[in-house]
Amino acid sequence: MEAQRIEKNIMDYETVALDDENSALLILDQTKLPGKAEIICLTTGQEIHEAIYLLKVRGAPAIGVAAAFGIYLLAKGIAAQDFDPFYEEFVRQKEYLNSARPTAVNLSWALNRMEQVCLQNKGKSISEIKELLKNEAVAIKEEDIRVCRAIGENGLRLVKPGDGILTHCNAGQLATCKYGTATAPIYLGQERGYNFRVFADETRPLLQGARLTAYELLSSGVDVTLICDNMSGAVMRNGWVNAVFVGCDRVAANGDVANKIGTSVVAAVAKRYHVPVYVCAPTSTIDLHTPSGAEITIEQRPAHEVTQMWYQEPMAPEGVKVFNPAFDITDHDLIAGIVTEYGVAREPYTESLAEIFRKKQKL
Ligand code: MRU
Repeated sequence: MEAQRIEKNIMDYETVALDDENSALLILDQTKLPGKAEIICLTTGQEIHEAIYLLKVRGAPAIGVAAAFGIYLLAKGIAAQDFDPFYEEFVRQKEYLNSARPTAVNLSWALNRMEQVCLQNKGKSISEIKELLKNEAVAIKEEDIRVCRAIGENGLRLVKPGDGILTHCNAGQLATCKYGTATAPIYLGQERGYNFRVFADETRPLLQGARLTAYELLSSGVDVTLICDNMSGAVMRNGWVNAVFVGCDRVAANGDVANKIGTSVVAAVAKRYHVPVYVCAPTSTIDLHTPSGAEITIEQRPAHEVTQMWYQEPMAPEGVKVFNPAFDITDHDLIAGIVTEYGVAREPYTESLAEIFRKKQKL
C-alpha cells in the first residue's frame, strides 16, 4: 500500500490499475482526496465491492473498469478446471460485484462483457479463458481512454475560446481512466489555449465537485471557480456560463439522463437562462433497454452522508428524517445534446441514440 502527501500531479496517477503479478486491483482512493493520494490494493471480492459502494472508486466509467479487473482477478482465483463449475462460480462473483451500486450501467455493462468472454470461449481451457478475461479487462480500460478523448473532441466543437462552462459532480479524469467525460472538452481546450472559465458545483452531499473536480482542474492549470450547489442560478443569471457539461450514469433510450443528484436542478436553471446543457456519455453509459428515466433505479444512500460526513460534528439534529438519493433524472427536453464518442445526439433522442449505435456497429 502506498500512502503519501500529494507530491506529483494528481493527473499523473492512474485511477484504476491492474497489478496482475500480485493478483490485485489498485485504485486511487477518492475518499481521501484532495488531502492525500493513497493507492489501495484490493484482492478480495468483498474489498472490491466495498470500494465501489463506498465511492473509493467512483464515476461510471471508472466503476466499469474496476469491475472488469475485479472479476478477472476473482475468476483467476477460481480453482475449478471444468467449464461448468468455473462458470457457476464466475456468475456468483459477477452478481456480487454487480450489486455494489445500481444506477451506473457501466458496472453491469463491463461485467456482462466479461461474462461473454467466458461463454464465447466455452470450448477452451480454463487457463486460456482466464488469459482472455485479462485481455478483455485491459481492452475495456484502453477503450475508456480513447472514448473519453473522442468525447472531448466532439464536445470541444460545441464551445469557443474564452467560454464559461459549468459542471456538476466529478465526471473528470478521476471518474475515468483519462480526460474524464464532461471535463474532456475542457482538458483538450486547455491544451489548445481556449482559456475556459470553469464553474464547479461543490455537489452535496459527497462533495465530488469540491474535492475532486475543483482539485483536478486546478492541478491542471484550468481557471476554475468553486461554487455551492445553490449558486448556479446566480452565475448563469450573471451571464458567466455559456454551456453546461455534465457526465451521466445511465442514459435511457428516450434521452432521459440519470446523473448525480442536483443535475436536474442545474438543467432547469440553465433552460431558464438559455444556456445549453450537454451530457457527455460514452456509449457504454447508454442503455437502450431502458425506455425512459422512470425505469432507472436510483440509488438511495445512508443518512449520515447528509447529516455528518465531511463535517467535524453533526450538522443536523439527531434522528431527523433524511432523503438521500445519489442521482436524479434530467428529462430529455432539458438537454441540448448528448455527446458520445460517435458524435452528438440531439432531439428526438429515440432516433438519434439508435443512430449512434448503428454507427458504432458499422465501425
Ligand atoms: O456517485 P458518483 O460519484 O459515482 O456519481 C458520479 C456521477 O454522477 C458522474 O457524473 C457520472 O458517473 C459520470 S463520470 C464520467
